[in-house]
Amino acid sequence: MSPITYIERVIPEQSGRPVVDNSKHPMREVTFNAAFHPDSWTKQRADQIAQAFDALAPTWEEREHARHVSPLIDAIERGGPIPEGLALEVGSGTGIVTPYILNHFNNVISIDIAKEMLLKVKPRLAPLIRCDSFYLPLRDNSIAAAILVNALLFPHEIDRVLTKNGVIIWVNTLGSDTPIHLSAESVEEAMPGNWSGIASEADWGTWVVLRRLK
Ligand SMILES: C[S@@+](CC[C@H](N)C(=O)[O-])C[C@H]1O[C@@H](n2cnc3c(N)ncnc32)[C@H](O)[C@@H]1O
Repeated sequence: MSPITYIERVIPEQSGRPVVDNSKHPMREVTFNAAFHPDSWTKQRADQIAQAFDALAPTWEEREHARHVSPLIDAIERGGPIPEGLALEVGSGTGIVTPYILNHFNNVISIDIAKEMLLKVKPRLAPLIRCDSFYLPLRDNSIAAAILVNALLFPHEIDRVLTKNGVIIWVNTLGSDTPIHLSAESVEEAMPGNWSGIASEADWGTWVVLRRLK
């Protein structure tokens, strides 16, 4: 039986969805390798990715799919019980979704590898840390929810910092057309141990909320 339960969409797709084929986008391989071959991640690769996103920072918020926040809101509302505590926003970029995370969590830390992305964050609503999510500067078992909106997943680190009942909120704002895309099943498969998930679609996006099986 699949550990992922799909629930019906409640937020319809808005008009104007970009027609793109990102199946061969270079970030696809990076995303897959981060999740399934994290040992292949090097300082050189991290620097390349940081530079690439630094270059995208000035125009990041012109990317329409990045501004579609309803998949995240839907995930938080319908993805099952979310424990109280500290939320970690991984790959927070220019902070587009941070206010929506703060609507649910009192305490949020946002991290990103790209300095230029972080410099664009205004207003600064949560502590920002510039770091590589391959090495999170956080204690073991300290995070109630790891939130990744179009962000790379390094399973060992997310597993290390999440509390026992902590959840992973994985969102792709352009669904399977998102450059940094993994299916709900792939996220579950990449994580150490056994997880169950609730997943759905919202607007142009897809989401899954995963929690450890007891
Ligand atoms: C596709 S953008 C998404 C940004 C934001 N979540 C949004 O939806 O607007 C991916 C973000 O992840 C950051 N990133 C990429 N690799 C990272 C890493 N290893 N550690 C931390 N952040 C990373 C990039 O700098 C970029 O800001």
